[in-house]
Amino acid sequence: MTKNNFSVEEVRAQFPALRFQNKDQVFPIYFDGPGGTQMVQGCIDRMLEYIETGMANLHGTFSTSIKTDALLEEAKQAVADLLNCSPREVAFGQNMTSLAFQVASSLKPSLQKGDEIVVTQLDHRANVDPWIFLAKETGAVVRFIPVDKEKLVLDLTNINSIINEKTKVVAIGLSSNLTGTISDAKKLFEAAKKVNAITIADAVHAVPHLSVDFQELQSDILFCSAYKFFGPHLGIAAIKKALFEQLEIPKLQPAPSEIPYKLETGTQNHEAIAGLCGTISFIESLGTGENRRQRLQAGMKAIEAHEEELMASLQNFLRSIPEVTLYRASEEIKKTPTFAFRIKGIHSREATEFFAEKYNLCIADGHFYASTMAEVFPVMDTGGWIRIGFAPYNTLEEIEIFKKALKDLLLMKSRE
Ligand SMILES: Cc1ncc(COP(=O)(O)O)c(C=O)c1O
Repeated sequence: MTKNNFSVEEVRAQFPALRFQNKDQVFPIYFDGPGGTQMVQGCIDRMLEYIETGMANLHGTFSTSIKTDALLEEAKQAVADLLNCSPREVAFGQNMTSLAFQVASSLKPSLQKGDEIVVTQLDHRANVDPWIFLAKETGAVVRFIPVDKEKLVLDLTNINSIINEKTKVVAIGLSSNLTGTISDAKKLFEAAKKVNAITIADAVHAVPHLSVDFQELQSDILFCSAYKFFGPHLGIAAIKKALFEQLEIPKLQPAPSEIPYKLETGTQNHEAIAGLCGTISFIESLGTGENRRQRLQAGMKAIEAHEEELMASLQNFLRSIPEVTLYRASEEIKKTPTFAFRIKGIHSREATEFFAEKYNLCIADGHFYASTMAEVFPVMDTGGWIRIGFAPYNTLEEIEIFKKALKDLLLMKSRE
């Protein structure tokens, strides 16, 4: 049995950045979760503890080195429980993008001319360009799963021809960092597995909002990034043992050739890895259950339930404002609490500047590297999209302030 343990006041108390006022003594309202969340106290504590009690490199005889070896193992086990994989399948790196390029390069021997790689129009380019690079290097062909412009979901009409006998890699984002659309990656990976393709999941925007299950997804490779889920700037890759062992990753001659260490080229960010342990403990503290995996799943469910409530409030409001065009899939499609919209007659940068200056609202604008979408919907002439994305520390009261800010902006513009 798993249970939730969620109180937004208690959660907020664990994020020191929320108490840091601007020059006008206004508290910040962080609505840019998809760009990166604030760091939870447990993460900061573990990071500081690692630094203050002595840092070291690996595999030494002295205590701080022994401590660092143990820390890396602890962190891999924590990630394994978060994602449901083995700690031997978990590797750390600078960020998701760098890890994806590294993996793309090491997949070169698995592909040849005429093979096909499938990516999507909905995805962040970090889950597109590394695979385009792989295609260029090997002579493979890249095929895009298009986005349905009306429904804002992947258009799977021609999926049986897009994923075919020639397909060797299928890279799918679990959820869009622009529209919040959650794609049915499991179904696409099942199709990919039928033709023995390698399946790659970009879980960067999913892990902060959903309980992700590496095994159940049938993904061979999964990426996420801890700074998107209340942690440090640190990239994470989970790679199925059998595939990981085969990967030819460029490495220094004396460096380990065993998994998962062979992907961790050079010295890792040990303090960030310490922080990650505290971050995962925070998620665990939000749920109850018999083991850590269950508590993490329950913790993520608690976050989801809170964010559902926030989502409903903002969605209803945005839909009620005639000047707002919201890019959001319909009710039956599952989505993360991430809203992309534009305001008629107002450049997106002008709007976010207004929100920031007048209300200390941290709201981003642009294409968010989901830039294929900015070609499908040519929006960049007016600054792209305005994006609001929630984190567990956001509240209904903060949304009310945004509603006031938007009405204020519209009023000001109507008077110009
Ligand atoms: C969906 C998605 N994938 C990949 C990335 C890239 O992650 P990183 O910054 O760790 O390279 C991002 C970052 O915004 C993202 O939102």
